[in-house]
Amino acid sequence: MTRVRTAVLPVAGLGTRFLPASKATPKVLLPILDRPLVQYAVDEAFAAGIESIVFVTGRGQDAIVDYFDLNLELETTLRERGKHQLLASLEELRPSDGQVAFVRQIEPLGLGHAVWCAREIVGDEPFAVLLPDELILGDPPSLAEMIAVRDRHGGSVILVDEVEPEDTDRYGIVRPDGGGEGAADGSIGVTSVVEKPPPSEAPSRLAI
Ligand code: UTP
Repeated sequence: MTRVRTAVLPVAGLGTRFLPASKATPKVLLPILDRPLVQYAVDEAFAAGIESIVFVTGRGQDAIVDYFDLNLELETTLRERGKHQLLASLEELRPSDGQVAFVRQIEPLGLGHAVWCAREIVGDEPFAVLLPDELILGDPPSLAEMIAVRDRHGGSVILVDEVEPEDTDRYGIVRPDGGGEGAADGSIGVTSVVEKPPPSEAPSRLAI
């Protein structure tokens, strides 16, 4: 089975739920504690064995490119002032040359379209998609578990979370295969997904 080596991170959405915070700052650069959201996603991807990351960005999001770049002035000043520990922590977070790529989604035409924009860079091989605006803490990290499930069962794997029955109309909800009987590793088969079904029509409480 071909290994999953590439992760696509679509970050070109309008971020309307975070306005006004996301008006001038890309949503994924908003901080959680001392680091931006996107750093958690990148850490998770590399921890799961991903080798390269493709960001799908929109206009006004060049700060994401800068975040992964060298900040020459800042780092020179830190070096001159002997702040070696700080400098090392920045260096440690910086991806190596060629490890991240950026592609522009010219119009925000939706998540599916954003992933499609990465097709030429990813090529014809399996890949992961991470939405950095969903922060999921897990040990092992969720992506590593998903890749393990794929290695065991094959096919495509999506991560789901159980939501309150009255909240199904806010999510994509999966239709479990048969009785929804899970495998020992916690995975279940899925036959289809329904976008934002009202509670009365939801095939399960499992949200993508
Ligand atoms: P969301 O559904 O959270 O949309 O997208 P959004 O635009 O970011 O946020 P709201 O709903 O307006 O607040 C899920 C992921 O897909 C990306 C988003 O950046 C987010 O990471 N996305 C969405 C794109 O890259 N392009 C799009 O056209 C839409």
